[in-house]
Amino acid sequence: MARPTTVHVCSECGHSTVRWHGQCPGCDAWNTLVEERGPAAAAGRGRGGGTAAPGKGARAGTPTRLADVSTERVPRLLTGIGELDRVLGGGLVPGSLVLLGGSPGIGKSTLTNMAMGNLAAAGRRTLYVSGEESAAQIRLRAERLIGATTGALDVPVLAETDLDTILATLRAERPEVVVIDSVQTMHAADLTGAPGSVGQVRETAARIMQVAKADGIAVLLVGHVTKEGALAGPRVLEHLVDCVLQFEGERERTYRTLRALKNRFGSTNEAGVFEMRSGGLVEVLDASARFVAEATGKPGSVILAAMEGSRPLLVEVQALVSPSELVPPRRVVNGLDRNRLALVLAVLGRHAGIGAGSADVFVNVVGGVRVEEPGADLAIALAVASATRGVPLAGGPGGAPRPVACFGELGLTGELRTVGHADRRAAEAAKFGLRHVVSPESAPTLREAIRAVLPARAPQAA
Ligand SMILES: Nc1ncnc2c1ncn2[C@@H]1O[C@H](COP(=O)(O)OP(=O)(O)OP(=O)(O)O)[C@@H](O)[C@H]1O
Ligand SMILES: [Mg+2]
Repeated sequence: MARPTTVHVCSECGHSTVRWHGQCPGCDAWNTLVEERGPAAAAGRGRGGGTAAPGKGARAGTPTRLADVSTERVPRLLTGIGELDRVLGGGLVPGSLVLLGGSPGIGKSTLTNMAMGNLAAAGRRTLYVSGEESAAQIRLRAERLIGATTGALDVPVLAETDLDTILATLRAERPEVVVIDSVQTMHAADLTGAPGSVGQVRETAARIMQVAKADGIAVLLVGHVTKEGALAGPRVLEHLVDCVLQFEGERERTYRTLRALKNRFGSTNEAGVFEMRSGGLVEVLDASARFVAEATGKPGSVILAAMEGSRPLLVEVQALVSPSELVPPRRVVNGLDRNRLALVLAVLGRHAGIGAGSADVFVNVVGGVRVEEPGADLAIALAVASATRGVPLAGGPGGAPRPVACFGELGLTGELRTVGHADRRAAEAAKFGLRHVVSPESAPTLREAIRAVLPARAPQAA
């Protein structure tokens, strides 16, 4: 057998070298060389020989008119986790690759274990390949999940990191669904790069995809996410796979959201909310009710009628404004876009006469939920205004403190701009008894929105 050879190809300029360099000898870019299989290793196909005309000797394909393409509908595989199925656009598509990204410990293995357990219980052939944990460790987790997933212990597991062994197992076992946990631990023996390097990760995904497409296996690839929130190393994977799911939330908090960043078989507007419990992940279907019930109604608190994908979700936004000794003062946000806070503070100061000036400003979305949408601007503004004045927002008649819901985008000239799904947001607020909703429909400017719900001065006995 010929010794497999690899080359290192620059992803910027395409220059190829035999050895790895930190800096590309072709274009001087740093860290762009990616290991790939060389011509000898890829031999066997398309060796037309030297200077022959391109394509000569190869068999021509037969294009088909779209109308003649058969579209026998392959039924989707339901994971039995309603929120996951919805984010996937109605279940897993056979032969597709789904990349599930998330930071360490967020619950990726738990989610995939549960999905596999449900599929096994429904009589599907499943396989769980783990390069991170031993079979015994996986069993321990499965035992914890047994209450939520009756098939948890019926899933066959393979603790393996060698890619060839995994591919051979896939061909032999012919599962309908397979989990690869995680793609960063797998190792192709003919590449010298360490597991997790760009070359290894890309090759792992590409070879698994070949087998998956050929045999109609649905593949769930688990991937790690860096601190900055990007899928570690391989952005290339995002183009390769059919669907990219992001599992996020803060590890210390119990709520997690699952979002589709890319989906070839469904909308990317869907999101699911989960709660991590000792018995596994539980779908939170009444998230709005919980957040409204937990809302404090104190100065600095407001309910935001947000959209999580195509679903309305009520969350509490809290702000704290306190004198600072730091220059510049602190601006801390959790669950919101940091740049929007800067914008909102500037508009508040310029157009509503509420300056945070040299105070520290903290803004949180309660429960570890992320709402990065322009509709959150008004909630930030009202929470900060209420915190600055030390007065609770009052939605009741005669200024009685009642929970206030709001949504709307802030324009730079102090106007409120409409955001999508205004009717559904208002309806969600009404459903949970929040009768007072401040929105661009009810107040054209920020100044008017503040006047409507914020008494000018703190009551004496607070
Ligand atoms: N007995 C338990 N009770 C409650 N929560 C638990 C329990 N055991 C583990 N957890 C939760 O499960 C989480 C780990 O889940 P899981 O292993 O699925 O995460 P992961 O995303 O796969 O992590 P990694 O990146 O390490 O693979 C922990 O953060 C912890 O909060
Ligand atoms: Mg894991």
